[in-house]
Amino acid sequence: MAKSVVTAGLSKVFEAPSGSTVALQNVDLAVAPNEFVTLVGASGCGKSTLLRIVGGLERQSSGEVRIDGVPAIGPGVDRAMVFQHYSLYPWLTVMENIKFSRRLKAQREGITCSDVEAASGRADALLSVMGLELVADAYPNQLSGGMQQRVAIARALMPRPQVLLMDEPFGALDAQTREVMHDLIRHLFAVEQTTIVFVTHDVEEAIYLADRVVVMAPRPGRIDGIHAVPLPAVRSPEMKLAAAFIGLKREILARIRETSGMKTDLDVLRKLTEKAVH
Ligand SMILES: Nc1ncnc2c1ncn2[C@@H]1O[C@H](COP(=O)(O)OP(=O)(O)OP(=O)(O)O)[C@@H](O)[C@H]1O
Ligand SMILES: [Mg+2]
Repeated sequence: MAKSVVTAGLSKVFEAPSGSTVALQNVDLAVAPNEFVTLVGASGCGKSTLLRIVGGLERQSSGEVRIDGVPAIGPGVDRAMVFQHYSLYPWLTVMENIKFSRRLKAQREGITCSDVEAASGRADALLSVMGLELVADAYPNQLSGGMQQRVAIARALMPRPQVLLMDEPFGALDAQTREVMHDLIRHLFAVEQTTIVFVTHDVEEAIYLADRVVVMAPRPGRIDGIHAVPLPAVRSPEMKLAAAFIGLKREILARIRETSGMKTDLDVLRKLTEKAVH
C-alpha cells in the first residue's frame, strides 16, 4: 500500500568555509498516499536536497519527515530512489540488475525457495510492464539511455516501495523517448501502489505527470506555491494542447521566472546594454 509523505518545518543549512547556504527553509509539504507530486523550480532551490532528505540520504538541520505518520530517520525499504544517471551494475544483465535488491535481501536474511519464486514472478512482471522482455539477458552498455532508465525504474520498484522518489529521471533522454517514458510512468503509477515525488526542470513534464505541481523558490530554498493539475487520471499527449494545460504552464513558468532572480538578471543586462549603446 502507498504511504503518505509529510515534511514538517524542514530546514537544511550547508556550512562551508565560504559561508552557509540555506538549501531549505521551513518546508511543509504533505503528499497523500498514492498521489503523484512533481517538484519544479530554478536551479539551486533545494529540489534534490528535499528529495534526498525524504529518501534518508541526507540529514535535515531541523524539522521532520514522516512516512505514514512515522518519523523517518535514514533510508528504509519503504522508499526507493531513481536518479538521472541510471547507475546500473554494468557486470550484471538486465534481469540480474532488477533482481539485485532481492539478492542482497537473501544474503542478509537467508533465502527460501518460495522467496526465489516470488522474486522471479515479480521481476518477470516488471520486465513485461517496462517492455524489457527482449533484453532480459543483455548488459546495460548494450541498451539505449531510455532502456537503461527503464531498468533502473524496474530495479527500484522490485522491493515494492510504497514511496518512489525520482530526481530528474528523464533529464538525459531525448524528447521523443521522454514522451514514451511519461506514458509508461503514468501506467506504472496506475498499476503499482505507490506514492511518487518527482523532480524535474521541465514544466510541461511536471504538469503532464502530476496530480499536483509544487513550485519551489531559491535563496532560501522554499515552497512558493502548489498547483493542482486539472487533468483526468488517464493522460494522453493531446491534453498538452488544451487551454487549461497551457494556462497552468504559463502560470508556473511565470512563478519560476519571478522567484529565480532571472528577471532581475535580465533587467541588469538590459541596463548594461542600454549604457553600452548610449
Ligand atoms: N553537499 C552540499 N554542500 C554544500 N552546498 C550544497 C550541497 N548540496 C547542495 N548544496 C547547495 O544547496 C542548494 C540547493 O541545492 P540542490 O541541489 O538541492 O538544488 P536543486 O534545486 O536540486 O538544483 P538543480 O535544479 O540544479 O538540480 C544549492 O545552493 C546548492 O549549491
Ligand atoms: Mg537537483
